Amino acid sequence: MKRSDLTGSRWIVTGATSGIGRALAIELARAGAAVLASGRRVERLESLRSEIAASGGQCDVLPGDIAAKKTRQSLVEWVGSRWQELDGLVNCAGVGAMGRFDQATPDRLRQIFEVNFFAAVELTRVCLPLLCRGRLPIIVNIGSVLGHCAVPLKSEYCASKFALHGFSDALRAELLAAGIDVLLVSPSTTDSEFFDSALEDQTAKNWKGTRAMSPERVAKKTIAAIRGGRREVILSIGGKLLVWADRFFPSLVSRLLARFAQ
Ligand SMILES: NC(=O)c1ccc[n+]([C@@H]2O[C@H](COP(=O)([O-])OP(=O)(O)OC[C@H]3O[C@@H](n4cnc5c(N)ncnc54)[C@H](OP(=O)(O)O)[C@@H]3O)[C@@H](O)[C@H]2O)c1
Repeated sequence: MKRSDLTGSRWIVTGATSGIGRALAIELARAGAAVLASGRRVERLESLRSEIAASGGQCDVLPGDIAAKKTRQSLVEWVGSRWQELDGLVNCAGVGAMGRFDQATPDRLRQIFEVNFFAAVELTRVCLPLLCRGRLPIIVNIGSVLGHCAVPLKSEYCASKFALHGFSDALRAELLAAGIDVLLVSPSTTDSEFFDSALEDQTAKNWKGTRAMSPERVAKKTIAAIRGGRREVILSIGGKLLVWADRFFPSLVSRLLARFAQ
């Protein structure tokens, strides 16, 4: 469904304390939406709220660990008591780790899946009744190009984003009749705090490189996809090329990627 006007729409944005989530909260508020922003760092949420309020926008904040059921429940209860309905849910909170799978602990895998997959899925589950009552409702899952083409040294992260990709596709079909859209956004490397906040980096690589997209640009492209009623967007040309090459020349791409495995 197209959404030319976001004025007055009501949104939950997770992972709003930095990077893509923060930029999305600002961009949504700029478009006239009301935002309930979440993340663990309270002072970051307060500064987001002040920044949005200073430019005339509406932002409320609710801090907490999104992997905890009680945080997700608080978000739903907040929306239920204030708005009664929800028009958009952005599952953006995410975490990564860099290093070989055979040198990683089971805990690393669990932590990544708890935030990137289970939290997004379970928040979606409890938000569905609110979204059913919303106006042109949409679930926006922030995936990754690595949820289309997996790379070495980020095995758990890739797996979590593939899982989110699969969930998004299945849910989109299930929710079509209810009129709830599901948009999967797949950014490439983004100039955020993501690599500094990684659970672990056992490599000596410069992951951010020099071509990272700004979170603001990711947010603008995401809003354009929301407005345009898109079902899936891969944001960078490099990302599109990688996914295309992997689809049509999988053996070649595997051999090339293996060079980066050390
Ligand atoms: N950066 C990239 O290169 C890139 C590329 C493709 C996709 N993505 C995806 O984009 C999304 C946003 O990442 P980013 O690049 O903006 O990184 P970021 O700046 O590190 O932001 C990550 C956000 O997730 C939140 N978060 C992490 N663990 C959380 C937890 N347990 N509970 C609540 N919030 C939690 C963080 O907030 P607190 O620490 O305050 O809790 C922060 O707001 C992620 O899903 C990521 O996988 C990133």
